[in-house]
Amino acid sequence: MSDNILRKVIKEIEEYKPGKNPETKDVIKLASNENPFGPSPKALKAIEEEANNLQIYPNQKATRLRQALAKKFDVNQNQIIAGNGSDDIMQIIAATFLCPQEEVIFPEKTFSVYNLVAKIFEGKIAASALKENEISLKNIASAITDKTKIIFIANPNNPTGTIFTQNEFDDFLKMVPKKTLVVIDEAYAEFVESQDYPDTIKHVRDGKKNLIILRTFSKFYGLAGLRVGYGIASEELIAPMMKVKMPFNVSRLAQAGAAAALDDLLFLEKTYQNNVAGKKFLYESLDKLGLSYKKTESNFIFVDVKQNADALFLKLIGQKIIIRPLTSFGFSEAIRVSIGNAEQNKKLISAMRKVLG
Ligand SMILES: Cc1ncc(COP(=O)(O)O)c(C=O)c1O
Repeated sequence: MSDNILRKVIKEIEEYKPGKNPETKDVIKLASNENPFGPSPKALKAIEEEANNLQIYPNQKATRLRQALAKKFDVNQNQIIAGNGSDDIMQIIAATFLCPQEEVIFPEKTFSVYNLVAKIFEGKIAASALKENEISLKNIASAITDKTKIIFIANPNNPTGTIFTQNEFDDFLKMVPKKTLVVIDEAYAEFVESQDYPDTIKHVRDGKKNLIILRTFSKFYGLAGLRVGYGIASEELIAPMMKVKMPFNVSRLAQAGAAAALDDLLFLEKTYQNNVAGKKFLYESLDKLGLSYKKTESNFIFVDVKQNADALFLKLIGQKIIIRPLTSFGFSEAIRVSIGNAEQNKKLISAMRKVLG
């Protein structure tokens, strides 16, 4: 294909690098913050039943799922949009609101899809500096200009797992002009233990017009392969996004599975408690290994390995464990490990003990 037919910005885009998937059953993947218990059983049952209707197009508006989410979050269903993963919603946001050369701000080292969608829609990227490897809302606020259209921030952050607090967020929001959209990506919200974690959705309930909250079924609900995420915002923001999204972006199986997973309280409690216990075990074990790490509010831990992360990744593959080297995030000597079930966590630690010597 001649290069001439390609938009210039597309030439400059680097393909997304996912966590490596296992090729055999005996390999443990702790690279993409997936649920170690598999999918929610209630979701699986609903998917099986829904499979009988696959000859018919899905509900274009994902009505039942949006109604269930509206009830859960005490908002109106017109304040919710469902997507093919929350990634899809990031793209819908950029397609709906971002004009070429308008600015998009996100922290300099974070989840890479913000960068990807900004580039696809020809936004001007203004990466904001971190403070001691953490997101600094002050730095983000001071990067805002007249031309800033969208700010993307993950809370908990990926890859550090850390959070900003309610007070920090409320102060930050006051500094953002009305014409700048704030997108808070809460992909890991359900794992948070801290009492200081912001209730961002209350601002939507209170009528805030430039705030979008993103959540996903990929992590806590164990449905990464199903692809369902959602956004919560004012009706004024959601209505145009509903026009821009592809008509059937959430499949029948995805709509049925996600709605059922919301009610799978036993599975959700087991997932939460496992994460709390796994965190404690991994902190103690990493302490014994003499490795420093960040205290996490998520289902993964950022570990400072003080050696080449890519080389360590390969050594751990040799032990049948897949972790995420953070080189592509800009941390060449750090890794991110997902919190697995008790057995997986033990195997991870014994593999690390072996390869670290
Ligand atoms: C911060 C963050 N946001 C969003 C996503 C993607 O979520 P989804 O599977 O809903 O597209 C991820 C996945 O790793 C993530 O880490």
